[in-house]
Amino acid sequence: MKVLPPDDVPNARSKQPLKFATLPLVAIPLVLLLTTIPIQWRGGLWKLSGLVPGIHHGSMSRCNLFEGKWIPYDGRTYYDSSSCSLIIDQVNCFKFGRPDSEFLRWRWKPDGCDLPLFDARGFLELARGKSMAFVGDSLGRNQMNSLQCLLSSVRLCDLSESPKDLTKEYRDDPYFPRWYFPSYNFTLTTLWAPFLVKSVESDPNSQNSIVSLWLDEPNESWTSEIDRFDFIILSAGIWLFRPLLFYENGSVVGCNWDSCENHNMSKLGRTYGFQKVFRTTFATLLQKEYKGVTVFRTYSPQHFENGRWNTGGTCTRTEPFTSLNETASIFDRDETDAYQIPVEEFKVAEKVAIERRLKLRFMDTTKMMLLRPDGHPNFYRNTSQGNASIADCVHWCLPGPIDALNEILQYYLIST
Ligand SMILES: *[C@@H]1O[C@H](CO)[C@@H](O)[C@H](O)[C@H]1NC(C)=O
Ligand SMILES: *[C@@H]1O[C@H](CO)[C@@H](O)[C@H](O)[C@H]1NC(C)=O
Ligand SMILES: *[C@@H]1O[C@H](CO)[C@@H](O)[C@H](O)[C@H]1NC(C)=O
Ligand SMILES: *[C@@H]1O[C@H](CO)[C@@H](O)[C@H](O)[C@H]1NC(C)=O
Ligand SMILES: *[C@@H]1O[C@H](CO)[C@@H](O)[C@H](O)[C@H]1NC(C)=O
Ligand SMILES: *[C@@H]1O[C@H](CO)[C@@H](O)[C@H](O)[C@H]1NC(C)=O
Ligand SMILES: *[C@@H]1O[C@H](CO)[C@@H](O)[C@H](O)[C@H]1NC(C)=O
Repeated sequence: MKVLPPDDVPNARSKQPLKFATLPLVAIPLVLLLTTIPIQWRGGLWKLSGLVPGIHHGSMSRCNLFEGKWIPYDGRTYYDSSSCSLIIDQVNCFKFGRPDSEFLRWRWKPDGCDLPLFDARGFLELARGKSMAFVGDSLGRNQMNSLQCLLSSVRLCDLSESPKDLTKEYRDDPYFPRWYFPSYNFTLTTLWAPFLVKSVESDPNSQNSIVSLWLDEPNESWTSEIDRFDFIILSAGIWLFRPLLFYENGSVVGCNWDSCENHNMSKLGRTYGFQKVFRTTFATLLQKEYKGVTVFRTYSPQHFENGRWNTGGTCTRTEPFTSLNETASIFDRDETDAYQIPVEEFKVAEKVAIERRLKLRFMDTTKMMLLRPDGHPNFYRNTSQGNASIADCVHWCLPGPIDALNEILQYYLIST
């Protein structure tokens, strides 16, 4: 028995919040790291100009999309729960009573350029005859759900464009939703693999049970499918905060939870799982010589305050942070690692990919999302058990700040 999608909220994190004195140490390496990985955009970026009139593209080719700020925005949201019927209850915040809407009045503004508005028809033109899969955990599904709604504006203009739900025909599993846009012959799906590698949960009904992970064996849920896709957007990490039992070469090599060494196992550092899981994932993509585009989207930050996910933590803010130093108490050492370790693995893989002309791309959105403590459902959501009793400060309300990730994603379609 799997937990149904609306419930896959936060994970256990055994660490205590860091003490005040250590906060600058956490924030500073993050800032350094984030600012020393420039993205160079090459070629193709101009093609969009014709699709989005009135947007200045002049400096886009030298722009780092991931450095910038959220600025006030008076325009309308792309969709709401009446124009997009596909928003799942997990993130349908207004349906479940969210009273404030100030969090919708911001747009991501990269330093030195403007991010064009999402252009649904332009996106579908670029995606014509192609297929796209979000690989990983529920944050990938969250972004796919946003993309479904962003693309629904095309359907509103022309009913014949209605996407078809093919989930039942394929796997009949809500973890693998599959949509098809007939006029564009475009397929959009999620391949569920929250650990990315082979895994067995000791108690699938508990968010906190020990999970066995075969660190060197990628999960077939995605490896058996990706050859059929032109784009994969890879995003995972949060489940690796759970208590884990690590296997390599088929044998137990260690564990990661507090005092697990008392069971005659080696306690491995909390970064071990992140490092090995992403190393295996990138190595698999390189070994398979996956010919499509892989977009690696960095860790999606949580914003629990006044407690953890399971100790009464909530996210009640209604405005973005203006500066990263305000986030220090939220983005602790564990989350810094959850960002940084996979990025290091990515950088190693990227070098090989460039040599082999494989398309491995970097979508470095952790910092911009870290500034959005106001974008989460908190209690304004529904689960398969009914009303939410714990806050969700992990996923993102739809509409909401995660729509900006798809404004950025449209660039990856253009630039490949
Ligand atoms: C749809 O696209 C696939 C490739 O993704 C291609 O194999 C197929 O022939 C296309 N079908 C139509 C009707 O164009
Ligand atoms: C792949 O991951 C899913 C979700 O974690 C898990 O249920 C499944 O057992 C995994 N498959 C293998 C072969 O480990
Ligand atoms: C697993 O096996 C390979 C080759 O057989 C070896 O190089 C590697 O060190 C082993 N890893 C562990 C953790 O035992
Ligand atoms: C752990 O290992 C020690 C020494 O090998 C042994 O004496 C002890 O019984 C083991 N404990 C457990 C719980 O297996
Ligand atoms: C955060 O940085 C801003 C300037 O970037 C500064 O004005 C503010 O005092 C800093 N806040 C803290 C809590 O350090
Ligand atoms: C909330 O979810 C429960 C269980 O799926 C369902 O019975 C209930 O009708 C939902 N509430 C609303 C308002 O959709
Ligand atoms: C669930 O929430 C709705 C709306 O806030 C409320 O009317 C209903 O009484 C709640 N149900 C339970 C079982 O708490």
